[in-house]
Amino acid sequence: MIVTTAQLFKHAYGKYAVGAYNINNAEQAMGLFKGALLSKAPFIIQISKGARNYTDKRMLEAIIRAAGEIFPDAIFAVHLDHGDEATCYDCINSGFFSSVMIDASHDPFEKNIEITKRVVDAAHKKGISVEAELGMLGGVEEDIKVEDGHATLTNPAEAEEFVKRTGCDSLACAIGTSHGAFKFKGKQSLHFDVLQKIKARLPGFPLVMHGSSSVPQDEVARINAAGGSIKDSVGVDTAEYLPAAKLGVTKINIDTDGRLVWTRVHREFFRDKPAEFDFRPPGKIFMEEYAKFISSRNHLLGSANQLDDLRASLKK
Ligand code: G3H
Ligand code: 13P
Ligand code: ZN
Repeated sequence: MIVTTAQLFKHAYGKYAVGAYNINNAEQAMGLFKGALLSKAPFIIQISKGARNYTDKRMLEAIIRAAGEIFPDAIFAVHLDHGDEATCYDCINSGFFSSVMIDASHDPFEKNIEITKRVVDAAHKKGISVEAELGMLGGVEEDIKVEDGHATLTNPAEAEEFVKRTGCDSLACAIGTSHGAFKFKGKQSLHFDVLQKIKARLPGFPLVMHGSSSVPQDEVARINAAGGSIKDSVGVDTAEYLPAAKLGVTKINIDTDGRLVWTRVHREFFRDKPAEFDFRPPGKIFMEEYAKFISSRNHLLGSANQLDDLRASLKK
């Protein structure tokens, strides 16, 4: 059942974070839905601009609709990840999305407000909520690369002003994470001090953490042992998901880790069966492994075993 992102946030706020997972194809969708039901967790499916262009945007929508029918007990929202203004309008008008993200975080503060406000006005007319971003994460997303030195943490006072002036429904904050598999140099923690200050200025307001993959080192080791070459990759400490959730982080975005599962499964499969050329056997393994991965993340986010309570609260 597709619900609004606002309904998921209302149930989760301050207690747990809803996992937001990017999908690009049918195998990821199958693994995601299976894993969510295995862990009895609500979730958010995110579609990036790149994902919409990978095959055809209608293909992904059809896959998600079909998955919703195959897994009728699932409760989820559908979200545009890192949209530009034109893509936001396309998704708002499609009638399929629960929420959109307008990412004008690379623009100056006033321009970010101006663009975000326009998208909020258009979205709210259709009952769709809007995630915006303030501050700059490091790493690569879509075609934009931010060098480490240029990443900036969200300023709490600006966050408060930004939310009041734009009317956005949730805010992606830069609190030390970055996109991709190379987040930190050495051991590093989230900036809980910044998060605490943002929460104090925006009590009850859902915050979003991008760049939240943990980049499991055993996964990276298996990929490299099967012919990969991923060096110096470090991710977010999964023990920090729940403390962040208690401070108002209601949506946690995870994409890279799923790509690592895919890469490990396929590298190991073809290393061990070099004469194989049927893509379905590794695809089957991937769906199972991705389901296990999703379930494990939902347990760490605190969203596992929330499904029945959420279902009951939606009926009230
Ligand atoms: O933050 C970006 C997400 O990981 C989506 O990546 O734009 O390559 O689909 P993508
Ligand atoms: P990761 O690259 O850490 O998985 O982050 C994904 C993300 O933020 C999607 O918007
Ligand atoms: Zn992101």
